[in-house]
Amino acid sequence: MKLLVTGGAGFIGSNFIHHILEKYPDYEIVNVDLLTYAGNLVNLAKCQDETRYTFVKADICDVDKMNQLIADVDAIVHFAAESHVDRSIHSSAEFVRTNVIGTQVLLDAALKNGKKRFHHISTDEVFGHLGLDEPAFTEETPYDPSSPYSASKAASDHFVRAYHRTHELPITISNCTNNYGPFHHPEKLIPLAITNILEGKRVPIYGKGNQVRDWLHVSDHCTAIDLILHEGKIGETYGVGGNNQPSNLQIVQKLIALLGKKEKDVTEYVADRKGHDFRYDIDYTKIKDELGWEPSVTLDKGLADTVTWYQENEQWWKDVKSGAYQDYYKMHYK
Ligand code: NAD
Ligand code: DAU
Repeated sequence: MKLLVTGGAGFIGSNFIHHILEKYPDYEIVNVDLLTYAGNLVNLAKCQDETRYTFVKADICDVDKMNQLIADVDAIVHFAAESHVDRSIHSSAEFVRTNVIGTQVLLDAALKNGKKRFHHISTDEVFGHLGLDEPAFTEETPYDPSSPYSASKAASDHFVRAYHRTHELPITISNCTNNYGPFHHPEKLIPLAITNILEGKRVPIYGKGNQVRDWLHVSDHCTAIDLILHEGKIGETYGVGGNNQPSNLQIVQKLIALLGKKEKDVTEYVADRKGHDFRYDIDYTKIKDELGWEPSVTLDKGLADTVTWYQENEQWWKDVKSGAYQDYYKMHYK
């Protein structure tokens, strides 16, 4: 099996590439990534010399390049996206371009090159948000995105489904909750909190910190994608969740405890995010019943491992914060 992974230099994509290369000794991977600010080839340094792995720097909106790459693979696993909600509030044009147009370009190329198998990675944010006592999102929950980011992901999901209904393209979609773990960019809450505390800076908490996210270790997300890719029913969507419901403040408090600090010394309350979704929660009964998937990493173990990873990989996150990580491509590929 030869896979085209889009956005493989990002957080989840790079974890997925490691997962596949380790688990399937006969699989090949082509990683196409534009290396935006979120793309970091250092994440993949371990497979740099692996003959089954190829990196191509390209934009998923490049029609000719995507046709050329897709002609040569068996399946596409599509991670590439602008993924940060706060950036989409400041400026949304890139979100429409990559998340909507890029996805449409890939779908067209998959269609024109023999109806290639296409798995689309999406988010629970397309469903909007929940109150504290409302039941979790399911695959049947109507779309109600709040941010320009989630609106663009919702549009991409609709395109993926439309290519299945109209053209019988063999697709699957997964809508996952918040991931955390190694290689997570320090603009997102958990790595931002860990690295700020390690640097002696404060952790900005939006509003009162009472919003709730459903956290899933990235390794569990990778096993879910692997299962859906290989055993998922064509045309179907699967919700993937972590069954964890801490508030943002509770998450930060857990990290503070792991790092041996005092809350009053390392937190600062800042203005809330515009249109801030209150709570996410995904009911993963469908993937559990159909494919036997369940999260395996508890939140406490996953957070402890993640703190250790950031402590042991100080150069990685310092280079991300300083921008030095971008030299890796120039050193190894130019
Ligand atoms: P990320 O921002 O870490 O990585 C995105 C990658 O896409 C980067 O390597 C970037 O360089 C690449 N990219 C961006 N624009 C591109 C373009 N035009 N052409 C080619 N490559 C491009 O994102 P992530 O957190 O790893 O998320 C991956 C996917 O999973 C996204 O589709 C996101 O919506 C989805 N998702 C993320 C989470 C989460 O908690 N992080 C949860 C659910 C779903
Ligand atoms: O639910 C899945 C989504 O999770 C993915 O689709 C997105 O790509 C991913 O970025 C993530 O979105 P969130 O907005 O939930 O993640 P973020 O880490 O940015 O924020 C988590 C929560 O923490 C959110 O309620 C906002 C809050 N927050 C965030 C930052 C960066 C803070 O309180 N302070 C901060 O500095």
